[in-house]
Amino acid sequence: MSTTALPDSMQALILNSTSEPPIVQTVPVPQVTPGTAIVRVLVANIISYTRHIYNGDRKYPFPTPLIPGSSAIGRIVSLPSDATRLQLNDLVFIDCIVRSRDEPTDIFLAAIVEGGTPGSAKLMRDVYRDWTYAEYCRAPIENLIPLNERTLLGSPKEGGLGYTTHDLAYLAAILVPYGGLRGIRLEAGETVVVAPATGPFGGAAVLCALAMGARVLALGRNTASLAKLKERAPYTERLYTVPLTNDPATDLAALQQYGEIDIFFDIGPPEAAKSTHIKTCILSLRHGGRVSLMGGYHEDIPVPHRVIMHRNLTLKGKWMCERDDIFAMLKLVETGMLPLGKKGGVEVTAHSSMPALSR
Ligand SMILES: NC(=O)c1ccc[n+]([C@@H]2O[C@H](COP(=O)([O-])OP(=O)(O)OC[C@H]3O[C@@H](n4cnc5c(N)ncnc54)[C@H](OP(=O)(O)O)[C@@H]3O)[C@@H](O)[C@H]2O)c1
Repeated sequence: MSTTALPDSMQALILNSTSEPPIVQTVPVPQVTPGTAIVRVLVANIISYTRHIYNGDRKYPFPTPLIPGSSAIGRIVSLPSDATRLQLNDLVFIDCIVRSRDEPTDIFLAAIVEGGTPGSAKLMRDVYRDWTYAEYCRAPIENLIPLNERTLLGSPKEGGLGYTTHDLAYLAAILVPYGGLRGIRLEAGETVVVAPATGPFGGAAVLCALAMGARVLALGRNTASLAKLKERAPYTERLYTVPLTNDPATDLAALQQYGEIDIFFDIGPPEAAKSTHIKTCILSLRHGGRVSLMGGYHEDIPVPHRVIMHRNLTLKGKWMCERDDIFAMLKLVETGMLPLGKKGGVEVTAHSSMPALSR
């Protein structure tokens, strides 16, 4: 084991139950164990529907009490003796997707949802229920992805990209659509409909698909949000916005104006489950087109079976991303093809340090 000097205690957000808000408390700093490392958390994202996860509205199963959290950016402060690549002080992406080592299909999202198998629920409950809304976090070493600090945070004058750690926190959002788009093998030059494109994950999908070389049709009801997306996005010459009216014939005709469409990337929230755009987007696809289903619907969605069958369409579900997707996406980021921060049209609108969370 190698370690820097750590305090005995830290501040952390503690969720005791879904019926009361989380509170900041002083708790012991976690201890390193074989296969896990301790990371000082620098920046942790807040997902748009975080409140609805932790107040129980989303009905995500998870044990309590726990330290909530999401994927984050951190620095390694304590390493177990079985780590062979990671080094003390490495800047890392802390991936919240935890997989059992002896059964990789037992998957859960640390501190968010315990997954869908008895094994994933057990692993979260017994081992990894606490996560990144704390000063320090204990994570499996395979969930700590080293970041090229010199390239990412280095000054542009010295060949770096000049990002901040806040800019890097957006990696967590982009990884979700990257997992879906890579999962259906998006190729440069293809046309992708992203719907809805105006939410945090939809916007990340637009950026991601553009960076992967696609022409993107961004669909949404809110024309002001679509205009903002168009104004800020890089590669804007390959981005087209399409207002969603929820009149199927009008929306299909609007999409068909753009010619052959290869992919529909679905990322709707539960409220959009009854929206007509899901079927419309499927109907807009060319023969042999693909659909990446990543939306968070709580109910079954009707699909145009006859068209799916006749056109040889492929529908592929995707939960989050694979570990190798993270390394592949980092290549896009480190070469500047996938710009972050202002260059990527993304800004940090608010942030809070730990003591302020208790107010
Ligand atoms: N598969 C995965 O691994 C994965 C991972 C992360 C998230 N997700 C899912 O992705 C979903 C989207 O996340 P988000 O944070 O981007 O969500 P969000 O901000 O809640 O919603 C995204 C957009 O949906 C549109 N919308 C809302 N109600 C609608 C309706 N009735 N009809 C049509 N459009 C509607 C809104 O756009 P307009 O008002 O502009 O139309 C909104 O901007 C989440 O709910 C989550 O469950 C899945």
